[in-house]
This record gives sequence, structure tokens and C-alpha cells, in this order.
Amino acid sequence: MPLAEQINEIRNRFSEDVAGVSSGALSFEDVRVKYLGRKGLVVGLFSQMGSVSNEDRPALGSQLNSLKSDISEQLENHVTGSDDSESVTLSIDYTLSGNPALSGSIHPLTQVLNEIKSIFKQIGFSLAYGSEVDTDFYNFEALNIPKHHPARDMQDTFYLSPETLLRTHTSGSQIHFMKDHDPPVRIISPGRVYRNEDISVRSYCLFHQIEGLYVNKNVTFADLKGTLDYFAKQLYGKDVKTRFRPSYFPFTEPSAEMDVSCIFCKGDGCNICKYSGWLEILGCGMVDPEVFKSVGYDPEIWKGYAFGMGIERMTMLKYGVKDIRMFYEGDVRFLDQF
Ligand code: PHE
Repeated sequence: MPLAEQINEIRNRFSEDVAGVSSGALSFEDVRVKYLGRKGLVVGLFSQMGSVSNEDRPALGSQLNSLKSDISEQLENHVTGSDDSESVTLSIDYTLSGNPALSGSIHPLTQVLNEIKSIFKQIGFSLAYGSEVDTDFYNFEALNIPKHHPARDMQDTFYLSPETLLRTHTSGSQIHFMKDHDPPVRIISPGRVYRNEDISVRSYCLFHQIEGLYVNKNVTFADLKGTLDYFAKQLYGKDVKTRFRPSYFPFTEPSAEMDVSCIFCKGDGCNICKYSGWLEILGCGMVDPEVFKSVGYDPEIWKGYAFGMGIERMTMLKYGVKDIRMFYEGDVRFLDQF
């Protein structure tokens, strides 16, 4: 077949092959190698130029050159995607959205604890820590809960030995701090506490409390009420009301429980406040003189108040969490919401 015809033939076959790329039979790279490769069809045509007559050579040479440049230009267009057809090497679609980067979040208990800490910090309380593994003395004895005292039944204790235990409340931190420091005292002490309770929607074998203790001369119950009322309004909003109900703790006298007006129904009554309009949030009272004696403070000179609250309970109320176990399961679908 004369070279001129072969050139046309190759041009047509090239067009067919390019059109066939979309069917997946060949890729653009295959087409490039087939036509422009070192042993490709175009090179094959060039090698025939030697046997062409002098008179035909200029015309055929220029046809062949334009075939070669047309083929490379078309392939180039496909590769860079400058025309509308599918691109070869651009296998990445930059218009697709990326994979979201997963980031952690601060645990809801930590968030609420941080908030409580910052409220008390602003009114002069500093942080102190007790001990999760503690002795019977710090957890009970020094808090006016002697052995066989019925109040021990309120707190099912994990004993590690007859004298050591996992603390059942953060009130032992009061004793640790007062034994190590002279009055006046103004501290809060957060931490984990343990009770041997059946795990349910409302109770878990471990939870968190925050203890508060203020000791000075002339401290009165009015100071306690003022401080805790201020605290409740800072945490739950200034429209929240508080009330104090008489209660009993061996380490405070008198003792009380503080309620806040229900933050869900604003006191009208709903199933969360059991239609009472009030939610119990903490225990408190004036430090019992027996407690001062056990740490060597003179109860004739020093007066004080103490309070303790459960951080899970505060968080459940703040966010409407219905099941305490959610806090410990580490389920990101739960944690992501905070
Ligand atoms: N320790 C008590 C409890 O765990 C709470 C409390 C702390 C009460 C301080 C009075 C004073 O229930």
C-alpha cells in the first residue's frame, strides 16, 4: 500500500482507537504506545521514508509530520483534560468531598466539672485532692462515722483490707486537707468515688463528686446558703431558685440538702422532677465540731461549712442524659454530641 494511503489509514485507526477508550478496551497510554512508542505505527511509517522517491518526499514528509503532531496533540488534550472527554492520568476527582478528620471531644463530665471548678475559683476556692484508695480513718472515722455506725450502710463500701478501702465519697479530702493545713481553709476537691451498688440506669459502681469546704472564724449557715445559691445560679441560670431541706450527715450539724427549681419545667412540674418542681442537687451542712477535733482544729474558734455533689447527676440534669452508664461506655455517638 502506498505510503500516502497508509498515512490516512493510520489516522483513521487512531481515531477509532481513541473513540474506543471509553469502552475500556484500551487506555490512552496504550494508544500512545501503539502509535508514538519506539516501535509504534508512526515510527514504522517514518522508517519507510528512505524508499520514497525524491519527488514525493517533501509532500509525504509533511503529511507524516502532521500525522505525528496531530496524534500527540490529541493525546495531550486527553491527558490534561483540556477537552471534554475522559482523562487518563487524572484518576483523582478533586470535586469529591474529602474524608472528615475525626477529632476527639472533651468528655461531658469533664466539661461540667471544669465549669463547676471555674465558678468556685472565681470566688476564691482553690483545688485540693484526696486519695481514691484511702483508709477507714479518712473515709469514715474522722468524719464522725465510727465503726458499726448505721450511716455506713448508706455507702456500700469496697474494702481492700479491713483498714483500707476505695473511698465512698470525697468528704475524706476535707480531712486530708485540714490535717495538712492550718485554718482558714477554702477548697474544692473533685474526684472519683466508688460504691458497691448494682449497676443500673441511675447508679454505677463508680462516679464522681466534688467536695467543698470553707473554714474560718464566724462562718454561719447564711454564708453556706449564699455561696451555694450563687453557685446554682451561675451553673443553671440566674432564674433558678434554691431551697434547703433539713437532712442528716454525721460530719455536718445542722445538715441540709439543696434543691434547685426544676430546670426543665421551671418549677411547674414534669416527669423529671416527679411533678414536685424541684431537683435535689447536693448535700451540705456546718462542719460538725467532732470533725474539727479529729484534725486538731479548735471548734471553739473555727466554724465551717461543707458541701458535696455528684458530677454525674449535675451533668445528667444539665444535658438531660437519662442513663448514667452512657458516661462510661466510650460510645462516640454519645460523646460526639457534647
Ligand atoms: N459526702 C456526702 C455524700 O456523699 C455529701 C456531703 C458532703 C454532705 C459534705 C455534707 C457535706 O452524700
